[in-house]
Amino acid sequence: MILFAFEAYEAMAAALQKAAHLAPARFSMARFDNGELNVKIQTPVRGEDCFILCSCAPPDDRLFSVLLLAHTLKKEGAHRVTAILPYLAYARHDKNNPGESLTTAWLGAVAKASGIGIVITADLHSERARKLFAIPVASLSPAPLFAEALAQFGLKHAAIVAPDQGAIARCEDLKKAAAMPQGAVPYFEKRRTAAGILHGSLFGNVGREVVLVDDILDTGGTLISACKRLREARVDEITVMVTHALFTGERWKNLWRLGVKRIFCTDSLPRHADSKEGRIVRLSAVPLLEQELHTLVLAAPKTESAGSLSGRP
Ligand code: R5P
Repeated sequence: MILFAFEAYEAMAAALQKAAHLAPARFSMARFDNGELNVKIQTPVRGEDCFILCSCAPPDDRLFSVLLLAHTLKKEGAHRVTAILPYLAYARHDKNNPGESLTTAWLGAVAKASGIGIVITADLHSERARKLFAIPVASLSPAPLFAEALAQFGLKHAAIVAPDQGAIARCEDLKKAAAMPQGAVPYFEKRRTAAGILHGSLFGNVGREVVLVDDILDTGGTLISACKRLREARVDEITVMVTHALFTGERWKNLWRLGVKRIFCTDSLPRHADSKEGRIVRLSAVPLLEQELHTLVLAAPKTESAGSLSGRP
């Protein structure tokens, strides 16, 4: 079993190699003068179970590299290629709007055609995205990591709130993992308009302390809008827990102005410069990935995507 790890995930790669006994692979990705990509693998892969670990930031560049590497591995006779993409870009593009790209489905089809058998990721955006993907996607719940953080930071009495309906299930998982009393999760109705994100009123009751839980913090628009509503409702302690912190642009920094005390996220994306502030707490996703490698992939019989693109055995 061989691991092809891209830069930015060195610590994660080292931990996975140790935990799942994966041998590090030697390979290079270079670009010709015109920008076209070229992959060279120096580690023999014939008959091997190969794992690719890569971030999706920036998404197009990274994904193209992963797809080309996967294709090269299969061409060279790899038995199986598993892509570990802690953050799976384009999973939000899962709505079939007339005249618009359905990128999640397209990406799944291209991943399959490139020889990827399984994708392992954290907290896939939606069940709809999983169904659209042409190959199995193992989506790891961050709930155990966040539950530990709730206990460690004394947040178990806060209300766990969903910034939109899509996040309700995440909140329920977190409450279960943290052994908090079950019951309806307070949530906002969210609408995207030409003017931006609009939050309606809060369904459910909250006290003075709230933990907002979502899968992605991108520009921060969703959470900023939810925080404004919470402030209007006299909530004065707000904590944010998001699996994937993209921190795109500068707007999300308004969360601090709105009284957010801390942002917990996983290390599914490379570190952001602002995390020096100490108010951003990055939780390692390695324990989740380790467990998944053991249970789902390594224990599975060698049947998935067997064969090679070149037709060699
Ligand atoms: C949307 O459905 C997602 O779950 C997130 O709420 C959203 O993508 C976050 O994006 P932003 O931070 O740009 O509002």
